[in-house]
Amino acid sequence: METLRWEKGILYLLNQTVLPFTETYLTCTTWQDVHKAISVLAVRGAPAIGVAAAYGVVLGARSILEKPGDKPFITALQDICTNLDGARPTAVNLHWALEQMMTCAKAHGGESPTAIVHVLEDKAKAIHADDVAINTAMAGWGADEIGKGDRLLTLLTHCNAGALATAGVGTALGVISELHRRGQVKMVYADETRPLLQGARLTAFELMAGGVPVTLITDNMAAWTMKEKGVDAIIVGADRIAANGDTANKIGTYGLSLMAKVLGIPLYIAAPLSTFDRSISGGSQIPIEERSHDEVRSFRGAATALSDTPVYNPAFDVTPHENIRAIITEKGIISHPDTEAVQTFFDKHSL
Ligand code: MRU
Repeated sequence: METLRWEKGILYLLNQTVLPFTETYLTCTTWQDVHKAISVLAVRGAPAIGVAAAYGVVLGARSILEKPGDKPFITALQDICTNLDGARPTAVNLHWALEQMMTCAKAHGGESPTAIVHVLEDKAKAIHADDVAINTAMAGWGADEIGKGDRLLTLLTHCNAGALATAGVGTALGVISELHRRGQVKMVYADETRPLLQGARLTAFELMAGGVPVTLITDNMAAWTMKEKGVDAIIVGADRIAANGDTANKIGTYGLSLMAKVLGIPLYIAAPLSTFDRSISGGSQIPIEERSHDEVRSFRGAATALSDTPVYNPAFDVTPHENIRAIITEKGIISHPDTEAVQTFFDKHSL
């Protein structure tokens, strides 16, 4: 099952809102289709959103080519990127991919719009292919780090940071799958992840399909499960990492980090370098997406609370770097992340 596919100028997105019961693909022929798919979480997970948006820019560029307006090509393309960027504010990979596409378009600004559309398509394909390679590299680094001992591991994860959230094997689930391939996984506990149940619908489904032992729990069972089942490590993904290592991820991750600290369980973040936003010094500057109140008052159209119940629905929270044992990237591990450790890592790899 492919999370996203580009074929003959059309983007096909696996519709994750109806998984695991129905496997259907959305056909995106316009950048507005891609914007909508990102907003409703048909495609979700920071890296997958970035790749989808890159193809969205190609579709946008093509629409300007077919129907030129009053604005210069590059200005019109920038407007489309700004619009796509607003689809989901926390996942910085979206912003990163759009910047990559705009930089590419500007570098070819002197060429014909037809030529620019061609280079943009090549660029989107390159971002897509890179994500696949990045995931594989991360899985190796993470499995080396977490699988250092020789005992079988009991792990816990939150939300979905798997193949469905990326173009490759996944970030956190890529590491877990690699540990499983090496015969080091005893059990993975997957939080169901309210309100949209990415853990129940996607992570449990993905791990079961891959033959990885998984047990689904509700979010409020996490602390007890960690204690009673002897969880060795928590591995999650990330949507944006500040220069000091503070990490935004799916709502609930911060709570897990607090429990893990008390219980002495290490928390690992697996994320590509494109998830770092070093323009911000700390997590308090990360914009947190707030979503529709109906996501909390209902599930798939079935009411679970009165329709006028007041709701707070932040989609992400920020885990302070002090609560993170290490960040796993495609270039290696940042242990005990803080401003200095992150800076040293980026310097070492000339990034
Ligand atoms: O709202 P979602 O489903 O896009 O949230 C996804 C997550 O929080 C993931 O953990 C994160 O994007 C990392 S994905 C590799």
